[in-house]
Amino acid sequence: MKETVKIEFGDCRDLLKKIPDESVTLVVTSPPYNIGKPYGKYKDKIPLEEWKELIDDVTKEIYRILKPNGSFFLNLSPIPYGKDKEILPLPYIGYDIMKKNNFKIRNIITWTFNNMQNCTNRLSGRYENIIWGVKDLSNYIFNLDDIRVPYITQNDKRLTGVGRNPTDVWYFNRVNNVTKKKLNLTHPTIYPSDMIERIVLMASNENDVVLDPFLGSGTTVAVALKLNRKGIGFELDENYKNEINLRLKNVQIQLKL
Ligand SMILES: C[S@@+](CC[C@H](N)C(=O)[O-])C[C@H]1O[C@@H](n2cnc3c(N)ncnc32)[C@H](O)[C@@H]1O
Repeated sequence: MKETVKIEFGDCRDLLKKIPDESVTLVVTSPPYNIGKPYGKYKDKIPLEEWKELIDDVTKEIYRILKPNGSFFLNLSPIPYGKDKEILPLPYIGYDIMKKNNFKIRNIITWTFNNMQNCTNRLSGRYENIIWGVKDLSNYIFNLDDIRVPYITQNDKRLTGVGRNPTDVWYFNRVNNVTKKKLNLTHPTIYPSDMIERIVLMASNENDVVLDPFLGSGTTVAVALKLNRKGIGFELDENYKNEINLRLKNVQIQLKL
């Protein structure tokens, strides 16, 4: 595991600086959304300008470390913001930051789910976005055949049998408290592993380096390990170390079976 997965604890803005230029194929990440989640060391309520600066600093470094055919998947969601809880579309801000840092946008994926709180004074929020940026629109990895999904109409005569493009609207349930308890995890915002599997399969090849600068409970590196990629993860709070190691151990057990 030592050779294929590397985890470091600290501020990803410092840790990213140690990664050589053009050495990473894929970055997948979900930064803090500035909504007051109890992450421990990181205080998830900072002035908006500071938050933008954090995302900008990290995006700049990601552009530098990505290979010419590399991809950056940035997951952000609209958030209720300020005294009146007006909706602030963080994906729009993320889009501007990615463009400012020279990324070309390949897709803006809508990730939808059912298990979220219900609102009584507005429509209940049921989506987040994942912005897929590349360095070069004529040279990037897209393994469509590895992520095809079953056809909607099974008896359509034009269908070849290989499955259809999963489109830019994805349904993956969020990880709920029951699942967390079963897996012995406590992190407040855990990615659904099957969604990250789709991204890793479509935008990297075996033995490529996959990095998550805001690692949290370790989903991205656990998926990288499972799919025979090299994983690098940075996390500010060392208290998540056991959780990350547990997830990596579980993948190793699965791989042995
Ligand atoms: C949205 S969570 C990521 C959850 C992750 N996708 C998962 O599946 O578990 C964001 C994480 O970023 C961490 N974090 C915040 N600021 C950071 C920084 N400057 N460097 C590294 N990690 C940071 C927080 O502690 C938190 O665990």
